This record gives sequence, structure tokens and C-alpha cells, in this order.
Amino acid sequence: MIRRIKGTYDILPEEAEKWQKIEDVMRKVARIFNFKEIRTPIFEASELFHRSVGESSDIVKKETYDFEDRGKRSNTLRPEGTAPIARAVIENKLYADPAQPQKLYYFGPMFRYERPQKGRQRQFHQFGAEIIGSASPLVDVEIINFALTYLKALGIDDVIVKVNSLGDKASKENYIKVLREYLEPNINELCQDCQRRHEENPLRVLDCKVDQKNPILLNAPKPVDYLTDEARYHFDHVVQGLESLQLDFEIDGNLVRGLDYYTHTVFEIQSQSDSLGSQSTLVGGGRYNHLIEELDGPDTPAVGFAFGAERLLLALENSPVLESKSEIHAYFISLDNIFTNEGLKIINDLRMGGILIDYDFLNRSLKAQFKQADRLNAKFYLIYGEKEAKEGIINVKDSETGEQVPVKIDDLYDYLLKQLKGGSCSNGCSGC
Ligand code: HAM
Repeated sequence: MIRRIKGTYDILPEEAEKWQKIEDVMRKVARIFNFKEIRTPIFEASELFHRSVGESSDIVKKETYDFEDRGKRSNTLRPEGTAPIARAVIENKLYADPAQPQKLYYFGPMFRYERPQKGRQRQFHQFGAEIIGSASPLVDVEIINFALTYLKALGIDDVIVKVNSLGDKASKENYIKVLREYLEPNINELCQDCQRRHEENPLRVLDCKVDQKNPILLNAPKPVDYLTDEARYHFDHVVQGLESLQLDFEIDGNLVRGLDYYTHTVFEIQSQSDSLGSQSTLVGGGRYNHLIEELDGPDTPAVGFAFGAERLLLALENSPVLESKSEIHAYFISLDNIFTNEGLKIINDLRMGGILIDYDFLNRSLKAQFKQADRLNAKFYLIYGEKEAKEGIINVKDSETGEQVPVKIDDLYDYLLKQLKGGSCSNGCSGC
């Protein structure tokens, strides 16, 4: 038997309904905040990620899925969505659109060769948003507020919001120098990876997953203490904005994030739910003012975030938000030959009017057809055979009350519509 690849999984129909729910909420909140959807390819030139996410990042160092195509070009399955969007903004000249800033969101699969565990897959899905074309601290506040509003709309409120600032280019460069000097005498006490990171990019050391509780890292100098006046002004205004929205957050001086492109604000939102285990970060994001320029576009400041959809679903485990019984309006119970008695036409006409209806494809007995209708949670059984065809009627039986009435075929649609309007249905369809 051919099995799915390690770190990937199938989303079966029952699970897919939960995905649809979190996607629906995502699109609704995006609309309220006036974000527009963007869809980019799932693979890109490898160089894009090397130049953006960073050569020293774990993602580029050991997690990308790279392959050479038949034209001998190196391609990479996207490990994240920000760099492809920056590329798309440059290539499609979205930076020149008069409607600035561009407020974009995306949803789709990402690929990282990580060690799979709960909340960490090799193919996973991100819901992300980017605001491109404004350096104002207001958009940092807007993006964090968007992320929190989405969580609230899903009913997830047991979260911790961590915010930090890496400052502008000058602050970041100065801080990296200070950090390298601080780590130098303690280098042998750090993990193997960090000894290498210290050379390549000491910021990565603070992001170490192994040494998180090491006092050397906990006591390390903090980027916020090395901000230029301009960077301090920006961060103070982000903090002020979050406070004026009365959002709960804490400043975490050690938060640096694992991708190279960040400057100024970085943030993460962690779930406190037990169901996530060690992978508790639901969303990560921050400002990346130089990425677009570094990818040969014009100087364009930007800020964004990305949620891990699988982690959202874990945080929502057992939540009533995702509980739903899928229902259909009616199940057509065929007593005779459906090919000759116009039954197919009746079913199709109802569907054209928006009625959710299904019928038997397995030549089931009468009893088995009723059973199947119950499995699908049909509200009505539509019982029909040669006799009904001759009389121009159909028997409509309410599955809950057992009440059965003959209805003229010509009146069937209006009758069902009226009955359904009186009841409630979880399908959110216009017929109910
Ligand atoms: P990131 O922190 O690498 O940031 O990923 C964002 C989120 O994606 C994580 O917080 C997590 O929920 C989810 N995630 C990451 N890797 C995995 C995995 N292997 N399995 C399951 N979920 C995962 C970024 O990707 C940036 N592009 C975010 C951003 C947007 N910054 C600015 N704009």
C-alpha cells in the first residue's frame, strides 16, 4: 500500500467542515478589516527564500523542500508566504497602486522539513496577512488587532500576546554587535547549533529551541535597550496604540523570531490550551521594512503575520464553535424505477432552487434508503414511485414528527421552502 508522506495528512470530510468554518471566519474578519485576498504559486525560485528568510535561518538551512526542474532551475516549495507576496508586489507593481497601503491576506499550504509532532507538520497551512506601503506604527497596531480579532471571533481567548522591537537597521546592527560580544565568553556553554549561530547571526541564538531556559540567554542584553530614537518613537507608538485598544499584551525582550527579514516590531501570540503541547505559538509576525527593497523592489515598508491553521484547530479542540451536525433538507426515497418516473427531474429542479437533497445510488431496499436518509440527517423524506407519478404527487414525511402529507409535484418546491423557513438548519443556506 502506498502511504502518505511523513508529516503530511489527509483532511477527511468531517474534518474539512471544521476547516471551512475557520476559513469562513477568517474571510469575514478580513472583510471587516478591508483586507483583499492574494494567491501566489506554491513553489518559487529557491533564491527568493535564500535572500529573504535568510541563509542563517533554520528554515533555509535545513527545512526547505528544494528540487531541480527539468530546465535545471532550483525551485523551492514555499516554506512561508511573506517572501512570495513581496515578490508578487514587486512583479505586479502593486506598490504603485494608488490604493495604499495594500492590505492583503492569504491562505494555503506551506512546506518545511521539520520533525513532525503534534502541531508541527511538513505540510501545514498558514492564514497570513500583510500591510504593504506604510511605515506608520498604526499599521503594526492594525495587524496585531486583526490577529486578535480573528482569535476572538473563533472564541479563542486564553492567549498570551508577546511584543518586542528589534529596531531599525542601525539599532539591529548595533544590537547584534553587542550580543555577539556578550555571548563570546560563554560560547562553549551553548548548544552546537548556537555555537554556529553565534558566528553567522547571533540573533538566532536567542531563538534557540534547546537552550530557551539557559540563564546566559535569559540574561542577554535586550534589543529594546539599543533602539535609536526613531525606532524608540515607533515602538512607543505601537505600545500606545495597543493600550488604547485595551488589548492585553506583554513586552518580551528576548523575542526575536526565526526569520531574517524583521525590523522594528515583532510579535507572537501563544495559546495556553493544553491541547497544543510544546507547539503553542498560534501566530507570529512583525515588520519587515527592507525586504521589498532587498528583493530589488522600491523602498517599501511592510508588516504582517501568519497563523498556523492546524494549531488553531488544536486550540479549538472540543470547542462548541466547531461542533456542527451536517444536515440535508431532504432525501428522495425511490419506490420504483427512478429512470422512468421523472424522479431525477424532480430532484434536479429542487436543487436548482437551492434545496439540499440527495438520493440512493446503491439500489437499496426501502428500509435501507430510510436508514441512509437518517445517516445524512435529512429533514424530510420525499417518498415517490409509479403510483405517485400517476397522481402527480409526492409524499413528504417529516423525519422528526413522522407526519406525512401528499404534496402536488408542482407545489413541492414552495411547500419545502415554507417548511424549512420555519425550522433551523446548520447549513447556513438561503432555503432555511
Ligand atoms: P513563522 O513564525 O515561521 O512566521 O510561522 C507562522 C506560524 O505558522 C507559526 O506561528 C505556526 O503557527 C505556523 N507554523 C510554522 N511552522 C509550522 C509547522 N511546521 N507545522 C505547523 N504549523 C507551523 C512566518 O511564516 C512569517 N511569514 C510570518 C509573517 C508574515 N511575518 C510577517 N508577515
